[in-house]
Amino acid sequence: MLTVAEVSVAFGGFQALKDASLTVGAGEIVGLVGPNGSGKSTLLNVIAGVHVPKSGRVELDGRPLPLGSIAGVAARGLGRTFQVPRLAQRLTVFDNMMAGAGNQPGERLFDLFLRPGTVAEAEKANEARAVAILKRLDLLHKANGIAGALSGGQQKLLTMGVLLMADPKILLLDEPAAGVNPVLIDQQVAFLKLLRDEGRSILIVEHNMEMISSVCDRVYVLDAGSMIATGTPAEIRANDDVIRSYLGQPA
Ligand SMILES: Nc1ncnc2c1ncn2[C@@H]1O[C@H](COP(=O)(O)OP(=O)(O)OP(=O)(O)O)[C@@H](O)[C@H]1O
Ligand SMILES: [Mg+2]
Repeated sequence: MLTVAEVSVAFGGFQALKDASLTVGAGEIVGLVGPNGSGKSTLLNVIAGVHVPKSGRVELDGRPLPLGSIAGVAARGLGRTFQVPRLAQRLTVFDNMMAGAGNQPGERLFDLFLRPGTVAEAEKANEARAVAILKRLDLLHKANGIAGALSGGQQKLLTMGVLLMADPKILLLDEPAAGVNPVLIDQQVAFLKLLRDEGRSILIVEHNMEMISSVCDRVYVLDAGSMIATGTPAEIRANDDVIRSYLGQPA
């Protein structure tokens, strides 16, 4: 279980998060919604080891996550995507996937010289994994194309694929549906449910309430850095505070 407890973050004099708490249980898909600037990405950044909060705790399975250490958090099995996809635009789709594989033995000189067989085997396993994931994302036919030539929606799918290459137990997704056409959003939803069924946990930041409703078990609502509500998607949609602070605001 991922536990965020009473986390506060300040940028200069500006308080971006005020005692924000949430949990993501094993095999759970949890949504995080809220108006622009309410602190959603900041909270993901705290979990992912980018920002060190001025107070509060972040724990995975009862053990503290290394605050401020992106690599340390990744090593604990957390993976995240960014609001704007970060792909190597000029590399092929397949090469982007291979770059996502964590712990490649070929990158260690020691292994390369002393255990070339291991390197070749790991490389093969990663290739097979990349093919399987691309197939599930319906991107296999684009494997040899340049990532930058994909549509915005396909790039978001590919970012998820790259993330999966490292086999994370918990996925943090920042606005996966933004700028994605409805058909690809349906595909994302099906894919996320599949990942959940594999036992992964997912925390999704998203403005698209339809997507949140169709995929999330529970939802948290941030408003100006504070958690103002939590519940099932149906409960959140019916919550007056939420409607006032968020759903009621002009699109
Ligand atoms: N590195 C930073 N330095 C200073 N201020 C920041 C920094 N990162 C975020 N902020 C501010 O903190 C607030 C929360 O930003 P954040 O990106 O977390 O919002 P968000 O909920 O993800 O919004 P959106 O829905 O627009 O993505 C905003 O007012 C933002 O300007
Ligand atoms: Mg954001």
